Amino acid sequence: MTASEILNRYIQFFEKRGHVRIENSSLVPLNDPTTLFTSSGMQPLVPFLLGEQHPQGLRLVNAQNCFRAQDIDEIGDNRHTTFFRMLGNWSLGDPASPGDTASLGGYFKKEQISWFFEFLTSKTEGLGLDPSKLYVTVFSGFDGIEEDKESLEIWKNLFEEKGINSENRIFKYGVEKNWWSRSGTPDKMPIGEPGGPDSEVFYDFGEDLGSHEIYEKTVERVEPCHVNCDCGRYMEIGNSVFMQYIKRDSGFEKLPKQNVDFGGGLERLVAATENKQDVFETSLFYPIIESIVSNTKKEYKNNAREMRIVLDHFLGSIFISSNNVKPSNKEQGYLLRRLIRRGLDNFYLLSGSDISPILETIVNQYKETDPILVEKFEEIKNTILEEESTYQKALSGGKKMIEREIAKISDEVTVGDELMGVTQISADVAFKAITSFGLGPTQLKSLGYIFDDQELAQKIKEHQELSRKGAAQKFAGGLADHSELTVKGHTATHLMHQALRDVLGNSVHQTGSNITEERVRFDFAFDRKVTDEEIQKVTDIVNSKIKNDLPVHFEIMPLQKARDLGAIGLFNDKYAEEVKIYFVGDYSVEFCGGPHVEKTSHIKSFAILKEEGVARGVRRIYVKVT
Ligand code: ALA
Repeated sequence: MTASEILNRYIQFFEKRGHVRIENSSLVPLNDPTTLFTSSGMQPLVPFLLGEQHPQGLRLVNAQNCFRAQDIDEIGDNRHTTFFRMLGNWSLGDPASPGDTASLGGYFKKEQISWFFEFLTSKTEGLGLDPSKLYVTVFSGFDGIEEDKESLEIWKNLFEEKGINSENRIFKYGVEKNWWSRSGTPDKMPIGEPGGPDSEVFYDFGEDLGSHEIYEKTVERVEPCHVNCDCGRYMEIGNSVFMQYIKRDSGFEKLPKQNVDFGGGLERLVAATENKQDVFETSLFYPIIESIVSNTKKEYKNNAREMRIVLDHFLGSIFISSNNVKPSNKEQGYLLRRLIRRGLDNFYLLSGSDISPILETIVNQYKETDPILVEKFEEIKNTILEEESTYQKALSGGKKMIEREIAKISDEVTVGDELMGVTQISADVAFKAITSFGLGPTQLKSLGYIFDDQELAQKIKEHQELSRKGAAQKFAGGLADHSELTVKGHTATHLMHQALRDVLGNSVHQTGSNITEERVRFDFAFDRKVTDEEIQKVTDIVNSKIKNDLPVHFEIMPLQKARDLGAIGLFNDKYAEEVKIYFVGDYSVEFCGGPHVEKTSHIKSFAILKEEGVARGVRRIYVKVT
C-alpha cells in the first residue's frame, strides 16, 4: 500500500464514522508569526479544543503537513524525520445525549481506541496489520490525576477479542511518556495550555531484523528491549491524547469538553504496513535513497546516517520553500538555510555533486498528495541551488566576507590574537557568526577561527532551549494565549483590519498577526508607508467603534454565503463547506476561529505604536490595547 493509499484509507475510515475532513493548514502558519512551523495536526485547532465552536462540527479528520525543528538533531536514526505528515482525528467534546441518534456528538476513549485498533488491523478498511505485533501504553497517573484504568480495560478487551493474551502487551508509564501537550510534561506547560494523558501504539518489528547492528553505535540498548526503548525495534505509530485538562495557576482543571486529539505519522504507518523497520527503506523513501546512492556511488548500508540526513533535510527544504520562504538569517528562513547547508555538508561528505536529481525524485514521490510541489518545482529548485552557491562562496572564497561581517558584529576581532593563521574570537562573536551565516562550529574552525568550545556549546544550548520554549507556546489564530487582554487585542485587530481598508483601500489584507498581552503585531499587504495622517484616521475609526459598544457574535454559514457577505480575512480552507464568521456590529465581517470579547466596550483603549515595512509590499503595525 502506498503512502497516499494509506492516507486515503484513513480519511475514508473516519469519514464513514461521521468525521468531516478539514484542511491541511499551511506548514508556515499564515496567521501566527509566533510559531515558525505547524508541528502537529492539533496546532490549528487549539481554540476549538479550548471550547470555541468549530464550524465543521465535533468530529474532524485530516492529514497535516508538519515540521519539527526540534527533531533536527535526531535525524539519522531509523524513524525520525523533521518533515512528516500527521494523520489526525479529533472529537471536540461531548457525546450526543443518550437516545439522540440524529446528531453526531463527540466521543471519547472507547470509540477512539477501538476505531484506531480497527483501522490498524482491518484488512478491508484499514492497514491489515497483525494485531500480535502491536503493543500499547497507557497513563499511570500523576499528582491527583488518576491512572487511566478505562483505556487499559478497553485495550485488554480488544486484544482478548482477537485471541491475544493481554499480559505483557499493555504498559503503564507516567508523565514523561504518557502525557501530551505542546510543551511536553505538566511542569513545562504554560498557564492556559491544554493537555492530557495519552495512549500510544507501537509496532514490533521483531528482534531478528538486525536493527541493533545498525543502531548500537548511536543508541544505548536497553536490555531487554521494551516498547519505549530507542533501539528501533519498536516504533510508535499512533498517539491518542485525551485532551481533558487545562493548566491554571492553581493546578490542573478539567476542560469544559473532553476532547480526543489523535496523531499518527504517515511515514511510520507506511513502515509498519510494509514491515520495514527503517522508514527510509519504505516505498515512499527508498526511491529517494536510491537516487542518492546513484549520485554518490556509495552504498546505503554503510552511509545510512548521512543519506538519511540528506533525504530528510532536502525533503524539509522543498516543503518549506514551497511556502515561499527564502533562506535568510531569521525565523523560517534561518531554519531553511540550516537545513540546506547541513544537507549539503552531508551530501558533500558522501562525495555528492549534483543535488538536482535528488530534488526531482523527492517531488516525484510527493506529487500525488502535494501537486503544488510540481507546479513550483523550478522556483523551489532555484531557491535551493542559489543557497548552495551562496554557501559555497561563504565556504571557499568567502573568508574575507565573514571576517568583515564578524568585524561588524564585534570590534574584538580586530584586536583578537592572530597566531599562525588562526584568529581567536570570543564565544559571543562565534555564536553570532553561526546564527548569522548558518555555519556550524566546525566550519568556523575550518575558516581559521578559534574560540572557547564549551562556552559556545552553552550558548547554542541556551538558544535552542529558548526557541523550544517559544515553539511550545504557540497558539493558532495569532493568539499567544486566551487571556482577557489578548482577547481584547484580537477584537481590536478585526476593527483595525476593516479601518485600514476604509482608509487605504480594499487592496489591504492581512498577511499575519501575533497577539500577546503586551501588544498586537499585525502584518498586511500594502505597497507604501502609511502616513501619520492615515494612522490617525484609522485610530479614530477604531476608537469610535469601540465607543459605540458594538456587539460581537459569530455565525456558522456556508462558504458561499460568507463570500457573498464580503467577509474578509485569511481563508484557504479547501475542504470546508461551513465556515465560521465573526461580526463586530455590522462594521467588521471576518473569517475567524475566535475567541473575541462580547462587546467592543470591553476594550478600554486602542493606540497604534508604530508602522514599518517588513518585506516588499508588506507593512507591520504594532498596537497597544487595554
Ligand atoms: N497531538 C498529538 C501528537 O502530536 C496527537 O502526538
